[in-house]
Amino acid sequence: MNLALRKSDFIQRGRFITFEGGEGSGKTTQSKKLFAKLDEAGIDVMWTREPGGSYGAEEIRSLLVKGESERWAPSTEALLMFAARDDHWRTWIEPALEAGTWVICDRFADSSYAYQGYGKGVSLDLLKALYQNTVGATQPDRTYLFDVPVDVGLARAHMRMSADQAKEDRFEGLGSPFHERVRAGFKSLANAEPARFYMLDATQSIESLEAQVWQDVQCLISAAIAHG
Ligand code: TMP
Repeated sequence: MNLALRKSDFIQRGRFITFEGGEGSGKTTQSKKLFAKLDEAGIDVMWTREPGGSYGAEEIRSLLVKGESERWAPSTEALLMFAARDDHWRTWIEPALEAGTWVICDRFADSSYAYQGYGKGVSLDLLKALYQNTVGATQPDRTYLFDVPVDVGLARAHMRMSADQAKEDRFEGLGSPFHERVRAGFKSLANAEPARFYMLDATQSIESLEAQVWQDVQCLISAAIAHG
């Protein structure tokens, strides 16, 4: 019998919350609002994003979000996404969750399924195998999916992009049919896992969306207190 105990044996694992959606869905704004609210409520919380988040993954991010749309084959792109995720997971997210920190992540693996899988035709089985070999068995505790019609989302994203000096626009220019496949892909993922996903109509006001997310997160907080 192994009697060795780790610090994490005494600490309740943090909750892992992801924000997903197409271009211009407003998920980044909402994820930052939730971070501020949890922080104000005294919960140890961290905000991060994908692709990127850790130092190594941010370097890989610049390969993925800048330059020509056709710069990478879909399979290369998927492998780069998971290379970034592997670094982010092992150096940033997993240690934080084990230390009891709640992690809010702006995009995670569902974006790979939606963009590289449903959008670009990379095999979902391959993407799931990559997930199992990098992240493992852990899934987000809750995923908020911000659903927005493609034309509305792209118009919002173009407005933001024209002010963006970094020109992280590699995916925006892929055209409506691609973004329709991504949107439908996200919906399929949400329908397949209704206990994890919470889908929101992202055409609503920022305040209304913020209130809906906060109401739902309070259930996660209550459950965490009950288990504590
Ligand atoms: P962002 O604009 O939300 O920061 O995301 C950058 C782009 O990366 C966005 O167009 C979606 C794309 N992306 C994927 O294609 N697959 C992924 O796994 C992730 C995390 C993002």
